[in-house]
Amino acid sequence: MARVIAVDGPSGAGKSSVSRIVGEKLGFLHVDSGALYRIITWLCIDAKIDTQNPGQVAKTAGEVEIELRPENGHIAYYVNGEAPGDRIRTPQINANASYVARVKEVRDKVTSLLRSMTRFGDLVVEGRDITTAVFPDTPARFYLTASAEARALRRQKEEAEKGIAFESAEAVKASLLARDKIDSTRKFAPLKKADGVLEIDSSNLTLEEVVQTVLAALPQEWRK
Ligand code: DC
Repeated sequence: MARVIAVDGPSGAGKSSVSRIVGEKLGFLHVDSGALYRIITWLCIDAKIDTQNPGQVAKTAGEVEIELRPENGHIAYYVNGEAPGDRIRTPQINANASYVARVKEVRDKVTSLLRSMTRFGDLVVEGRDITTAVFPDTPARFYLTASAEARALRRQKEEAEKGIAFESAEAVKASLLARDKIDSTRKFAPLKKADGVLEIDSSNLTLEEVVQTVLAALPQEWRK
């Protein structure tokens, strides 16, 4: 049986960096579940679908084929043989992904893709509903959080460094809070801290400190 480390939390809490490093240290494949919602959002926008129309979004999601390939320590996604790259990281995708992620058919599709990934080996999976809905029974579950200010600053820096967007900290914060609200109030698998999950507030911790906190909380036999 593959082992799964589940990491949930709001946007910009540091889930990706922490999950990637923990995965590298343990030899677990890193899985970015948000990227799957982003890919479906990107394809909806490309097809000029109204992302706030659940019927149309569900239809598009039904037609999407996402190929999974384990490579370089993570599960990479390909659509028609192409990796989407930073095309799924734009402010437009940020603004629309929460609407797409509300749709039940989309969630069911992503959840079954994520569960199927255990065939590739041990995983560290980050998202919003991994601890509550996708892998609720795994003994390694974390809820990563940070203040809205800290999260907005991180996201702004990331976007600027990658040359994706140059938004003000205020604009990034507003977009992030708007998404959090939709993600945590939706009907199906909303973002919430489940009972029994270790909450880590990273506002005043370094990345290495968060990584060490996660490693220390894993079942003894999982630690290298
Ligand atoms: O983590 P992210 O910003 O890349 O996520 C993109 C969107 O997908 C965001 O609105 C939250 C949603 N999401 C979700 O609903 N469930 C997940 N497991 C991961 C992401």
